[in-house]
Amino acid sequence: MDNEFIFKDFFEIRSGKVQWRSPSNIALIKYWGKKTGQIPLNPSLSFSLTKCFTKTTITFKKNKSSFPKYHFLFHGEKTPSFERKIDGFFSRILKYCPYILDIEMKIESFNSFPHSSGIASSASSFGALSLCIMEIEKTLNPKIDEVYFFKKASFISRLGSGSACRSIYDKFSIWGESIISGSNDLYAIPFNKKIHNSFNYLCDTILIVDKSKKEFSSTKGHELMSGHFYAESRMIQVESNFSKLVESLQSGNYDLFIKTVESEALALHAMMMTSDPYFILMKSRTLEIIKALWEFRRASGTKLCFTLDAGANVHIIYPREEFNNVQNFISQKLISYCENGEFINDTIGTGPLKL
Ligand code: DP6
Repeated sequence: MDNEFIFKDFFEIRSGKVQWRSPSNIALIKYWGKKTGQIPLNPSLSFSLTKCFTKTTITFKKNKSSFPKYHFLFHGEKTPSFERKIDGFFSRILKYCPYILDIEMKIESFNSFPHSSGIASSASSFGALSLCIMEIEKTLNPKIDEVYFFKKASFISRLGSGSACRSIYDKFSIWGESIISGSNDLYAIPFNKKIHNSFNYLCDTILIVDKSKKEFSSTKGHELMSGHFYAESRMIQVESNFSKLVESLQSGNYDLFIKTVESEALALHAMMMTSDPYFILMKSRTLEIIKALWEFRRASGTKLCFTLDAGANVHIIYPREEFNNVQNFISQKLISYCENGEFINDTIGTGPLKL
């Protein structure tokens, strides 16, 4: 099934420069657990952001070698921890992009959001890097069409970081075999059903609760799903939540949306707390925010909800019409739980951009 992604047309490689920016994304149905080969245990559904993105430039010239030759700079500096991940990515995509053995690359990457904000950057980073690699492929074969371009970009970015394959599209994306036709485990696809108007302009305010590097990486957490006591039940739950979310996105049932999104966030953390070894990524301030949000929603009827990543930060999700309401609530109450009072106001995004 992955054969369609193997590059076979060999042309003479030249030097050049390619540049893409790719958004971060926030999952509403969570990817947690994988089989070998970066295949997810369950389907996930996310939306791309606007302000949180990675911009990557690759300058390349001809130079043959037996392993991809590159020089990586993050915000202008060498970052060995990231190089290990890039090495893994390159070795996994070699079969599909053999031309990377014919070039030497200078890779320069910048995040729009603060590096130490606790916001996961692997999705936008591998998204941008993969789009750049595809842009190089396009210089070798200008005939590749747009659909294939993004499909393969999503396919290879999955091999860098699972959630990255959903950072290739605008708005909502789905990765993993599901009730949505065309969805599959190898790459993400755009959500191809009509979305109710109330979800076209979603806001995501990211409350920065803890900026420190997390003690437990997502990759390690995924591993702990194999042999997890609740893995089977989690699969049943995620299937049910996936259907409910799709139904709410189409019908505009905001109460069902809220219930499903929060159930997924808490289920993700419940999996962490019940794995072997168990661990907790939420902080007490994360819980304070959730309690305050529930109280505010009950008292005011505001249509806001929360979701969590594999970390302590809280994403507050709400429709554009509630912007002023939610901002008042944040400045009056929630800001006191944020590290240095920091938060980022983001919105559902327009997707990656060629620069
Ligand atoms: C909790 O994509 O970071 O954010 O595939 O090992 O790189 P790797 O993991 P990663 O996992 C993200 C997990 C999550 C949920 C989600 O984004 O769906």
